[in-house]
Amino acid sequence: MGNFSGLDRIIEKYSDQPGKLIPVLHEVQEEIGYLSLAVQQYLAERLKLPLSKIYGVVSFYSFFNTEPRGQHIIGVCMGTACYVKGAGKILEKLKSELAIEMGQTSADQRFTLTITRCLGTCSMAPVLMIDDQLYGTVRTTEVAGILNRY
Ligand code: FES
Repeated sequence: MGNFSGLDRIIEKYSDQPGKLIPVLHEVQEEIGYLSLAVQQYLAERLKLPLSKIYGVVSFYSFFNTEPRGQHIIGVCMGTACYVKGAGKILEKLKSELAIEMGQTSADQRFTLTITRCLGTCSMAPVLMIDDQLYGTVRTTEVAGILNRY
């Protein structure tokens, strides 16, 4: 098990609170980026909770990550309008450019590829987001150029 004693400060901060597990997990993820199994084991021990409980919560909520995330998060909208306008092809192009599958992080740790629900900009379909930047009416031929900006 790694040395995670640096996380004790967070654990102690919430020690008196009922329902502390989710806030602790949030803050730990903010601090070290993701919740590896080793981190979950450490938290289970320190919080005196079964590992299965922690694992259950981490896997239930999509905002918890168990693997390192890239510097930039790509979200391809898979809402109906975007899907109809070819979001699937954009996703395939991203996968081949980055040589990863959905949910994975590129080998250089620059990008993590995810899909999103409707982003509310259907008139610009197909849409993708990289961090806070929205790209509309994206064509497959533009994908490499968009990635090169990062
Ligand atoms: S379906 Fe993609 S923005 Fe609405």
